[in-house]
Amino acid sequence: MLRIEGLTAGYGDKIVLRGVDLRAEPGHVTCVMGRNGAGKTTLLRSIMGQTRRHAGIIHLNATPLHDLPAHEVPRHGIGYVPQGRRLFGPLSVAENLEIGLMVRAHDPATRERVLTLFPRLRERLDQPAGTLSGGEQQMLALARALCLEPAVLLLDEPTEGLQPSMIRLIRDSVTTLKAAGVAIVLVEQRVEAVLSIADTVVFMAQGQIAETLPAAGLTPDAEPFRRHIGI
Ligand SMILES: Nc1ncnc2c1ncn2[C@@H]1O[C@H](COP(=O)(O)OP(=O)(O)OP(=O)(O)O)[C@@H](O)[C@H]1O
Ligand SMILES: [Mg+2]
Repeated sequence: MLRIEGLTAGYGDKIVLRGVDLRAEPGHVTCVMGRNGAGKTTLLRSIMGQTRRHAGIIHLNATPLHDLPAHEVPRHGIGYVPQGRRLFGPLSVAENLEIGLMVRAHDPATRERVLTLFPRLRERLDQPAGTLSGGEQQMLALARALCLEPAVLLLDEPTEGLQPSMIRLIRDSVTTLKAAGVAIVLVEQRVEAVLSIADTVVFMAQGQIAETLPAAGLTPDAEPFRRHIGI
């Protein structure tokens, strides 16, 4: 289990997160919602060691992650798909996957499994990542994260700007990973998407956790959505 307690973090001297508590359990989807600037991306970046921590802890099971340099966090099985995708554009699809595979030195079976999940990538292995469509790039970003066989997967608005067929594909992959026991933290702004997949919904506001609710029983017109994201 990923366990965050009392996390206060930010950029330089600027504090963005204040006293954040969050848990992500195996086979469980935790959706993080909140207005623009609430600190959702900063929360995921903090887990990856990419912000400055002022207080609090981040543990994966018994292992403290919060003192690790950023490049070591993925080696502990934390996969991260940043908002807006961060691919190495001139590199091919195959090379991008290789980067993911290198992190934890896994066997070729991992690559096979990932390509089975995303057949479109298999057809485009030699294509430069920068020339893929937006949806294909998002697929590759997710595939690369899966190449480290993550215990925890952090997804920052993975369906932003994608068309419905691609959104379904990403959602189906998340469902598959959930069934495989991955702990998933999904930043997502669309209420229907959240309700179709979340076990727990966490609302952030101004760098704090405003409310944590079980997804079961929430409806699109539920009051917390209005209160925390204004719809
Ligand atoms: N690199 C940075 N340096 C300084 N401040 C930053 C940096 N990145 C983000 N911030 C600030 O931190 C706050 C939270 O930003 P963050 O990107 O975490 O929000 P978010 O909830 O992900 O928003 P969005 O829904 O727009 O993606 C904002 O006020 C933002 O301006
Ligand atoms: Mg963000």
